[in-house]
Amino acid sequence: MKEKLELIKNNALEEIKNTSNSSEFESIRVKYLGKKGELTQILRGMGALSAEERPIVGKIANEVRAVLETAIEEGIGAIKNREKNERLKNEVIDISMPGIKQTIGKRNPLEQTLDEMKEIFITMGFTIEEGPEVELDYYNFEALNIPKNHPARGEQDTFYINDNIVLRTQTSPIQVRTMEKQKPPIKMISPGKVYRSDAVDATHSPIFYQMEGLVVDKGITFADLKGTLELFAKKMLGDKVKTKFRPHHFPFTEPSAEMDATCFVCGGEGCRVCKGEGWIELLGCGMVHPEVLKNCGIDPEVYSGFAFGFGVDRMVMLKYGLDDIRQLYESDMRFLDQF
Ligand code: DAH
Repeated sequence: MKEKLELIKNNALEEIKNTSNSSEFESIRVKYLGKKGELTQILRGMGALSAEERPIVGKIANEVRAVLETAIEEGIGAIKNREKNERLKNEVIDISMPGIKQTIGKRNPLEQTLDEMKEIFITMGFTIEEGPEVELDYYNFEALNIPKNHPARGEQDTFYINDNIVLRTQTSPIQVRTMEKQKPPIKMISPGKVYRSDAVDATHSPIFYQMEGLVVDKGITFADLKGTLELFAKKMLGDKVKTKFRPHHFPFTEPSAEMDATCFVCGGEGCRVCKGEGWIELLGCGMVHPEVLKNCGIDPEVYSGFAFGFGVDRMVMLKYGLDDIRQLYESDMRFLDQF
């Protein structure tokens, strides 16, 4: 028995000596120390030994097991070490190599311009209001004095969710929502996305941005409207800019107007940007229609107000001399990096 153990030990150590990878070590472990391993078999057969022999053989067997376990552990350790050193040698990091450049996004010029506009109105004491982009027909049209079948609906190609729900075509519904919630004095702007079912081309996008403004209080007149919007135009486009108001029609204001500003490129002489006109149309505006005030529970005999709304994309395109609105929505970093 003792000789057999000695033999097993020597064979195993010999095999271990000649082993050069960890999977071979695993097979050796199984072969000798596994459940059906040679050493395990011997330990199992110890019942057949005499009472004197049993502890002696048992001791030797345990010693052999310990020797083999240690040898295998050391062998595996040595291999791991060698593999690690090889890897370190092969994977030398060249710290002089340039890194991989990460492209970082940039704020869209639309957002930048919106921020500028908000800043101007905030310094004039306006608050910022929000409303849903999926809007009730009532707020987008009815309450703004645009009943069903009104021709003004035809001008705004509307995405209908169903008969009563639309994607808002303008930021004007936020006027109504604000007047329902707050009592005058009201002085708010409301920038946001609006939707129209327009085919995409260089000047049309089914999604674009508008900014609405509303002031309601006692004794508000058209002079307040002009003063506010002229100041805005000067802050936005420069002190030299001149403005003019042309009569227009909007169902929710009376009287209504459109405001033009002298072209910021040629200063009014006429150029490519203003198409030779010298003037650029900036926004629509007017005195809030008494019907709209009434719809919102505000007495038009006591209060009056003015409102305005403009397309932010147009403003951005004018400001940066862009000729294609699609550039604002394509997230092309080569374009965005220029602003
Ligand atoms: N909502 C109008 C449009 O989309 C713009 C507008 C015009 C808003 C006059 C106003 C306003 O508040 O008074 O064409």
